[in-house]
Amino acid sequence: LADPAAKVASVAGSPHPSIPLPIRLYGNSRDNSSGIDLADEQVLGTLATKIASPLPSRERSDSAPSPSRERGPSDVAAAVTAAQAAFPTWSTTPPESRADALERLADLLERDRESLMAICVHEARKTIPDALAEVREAVDFCRYYAAEARTQFLPLQLPGPTGERNELRLEGRGVFACIAPWNFPLAIFLGQVGAALVAGNTVVAKPAPQTPLIAAAAVALAHEAGIPAGALQLVTGGGEIGEALVRDPRIMGVAFTGSTPTARRIARALLDDESRPLVPFIAETGGINAMIVDSTALTEQVVQDVITSAFRSAGQRCSALRLLLVQDDVADRTLEMLGGAMDTLVIGNPADPATDVGPVIDDAAFTRLETYRQAQQPRWLHALPAPATGDFVAPTVIALDAIADLKEEWFGPLLHVVRWKAGELPATIAAVNALGYGLTMGLHSRIASVAAVVTHGAHVGNLYINRSMIGAVVGSQPFGGEGRSGTGFKAGGPHYLLRFVHERTVSTDT
Ligand code: SER
Repeated sequence: LADPAAKVASVAGSPHPSIPLPIRLYGNSRDNSSGIDLADEQVLGTLATKIASPLPSRERSDSAPSPSRERGPSDVAAAVTAAQAAFPTWSTTPPESRADALERLADLLERDRESLMAICVHEARKTIPDALAEVREAVDFCRYYAAEARTQFLPLQLPGPTGERNELRLEGRGVFACIAPWNFPLAIFLGQVGAALVAGNTVVAKPAPQTPLIAAAAVALAHEAGIPAGALQLVTGGGEIGEALVRDPRIMGVAFTGSTPTARRIARALLDDESRPLVPFIAETGGINAMIVDSTALTEQVVQDVITSAFRSAGQRCSALRLLLVQDDVADRTLEMLGGAMDTLVIGNPADPATDVGPVIDDAAFTRLETYRQAQQPRWLHALPAPATGDFVAPTVIALDAIADLKEEWFGPLLHVVRWKAGELPATIAAVNALGYGLTMGLHSRIASVAAVVTHGAHVGNLYINRSMIGAVVGSQPFGGEGRSGTGFKAGGPHYLLRFVHERTVSTDT
């Protein structure tokens, strides 16, 4: 960073289109008035200082004196033991007190927002707007699940004859394993953990190996908020740690966000041991997400929404657009305008407020994506230049002949395009469904009957019409897919907490 303070502060003077000013940070509604304001010089100065400060090394965070220091399968077992010991007290803590703790955690996230954003920029390579959205979503998850718990976890009195009382109670199940991804290392991490805790479970949380520091910061804040240390344990590491965690027979449920193959491995691990109880498995996985554009669409709007959906966050959202399906009549015009819009994207250091597209998460991701991208070179329709050093994958548009030619989810800024002709809409929807995923879909059309056909025909969890297809808002756009994209229930929706509880009926003769 040459001069991060100057770069961050420059946002105030010359607003960049990627950072609408002022940005509001908090609350479930988009226009909640409390929040961080990137036009505020003091806020910007603090943020710049935090970004410029060195982070504690991973080694130092691993060796921090806390029950969270876990290095191998035996440490995983110790974490489960501690979480199990904490369960009787935490599960009988009234739901409203658990909700209070989650709300205090939201307050602490707000208090430490600049530090948390700085860690997201450093560790997860997030751009500043993405880091901001990350903290906002984490706050939203905490407040939303707290509010839901207050109403959902009241015992429900059910009817019966005179002299009989029937009550339906929702209670925590035991120790939950929460396994989070690196692409939303604070928001999804705390979404899983907050839901499991507020439902009365204790938790052993495992962040992705790429992002342990932000998880450690979140856990420290949760403990400060009054969630007992025993009730929330952190274990860090890779696949061997996750494997040990889900194979521990004391785990009473798993919330996982990550790849479909890993979800299958977890599901198998949960079922292999016949002596284990059958436990809930909540998986949010990937998708090959398409956007359908017909000849009535507003091209300028399409282009803006494609840029946002395919290239923001370097395409590293599970909701991101992978496959643009554009009607032949408007394809040339749309692709030409898209190329022009792509040329304005700034690719570079995520700590620079001017950056639109930062590097991908690590060298391994870069190599995988770049190898594929280069192999597609004869099919490139438009490719941006990317910085020569660093893990920068150049945003690239790749032509395909058929929808079925896209065999897998490429988790980066690579957009595939297939053209379709008038009359082929039902076949186009069917071909997307046949890919077997079902996370997000976009549609751009001004014809209501087209919207109805797509709404009824597309097998997806989240359909976005005439807008971008990323950035689901907690409480407004419950998020999650079907098919190979996940099990449900949706994160940030009213049914999610129900996956984390036992339902118990108590009938009493009075
Ligand atoms: N919740 C995120 C989004 O909607 C998931 O990638 O973009």
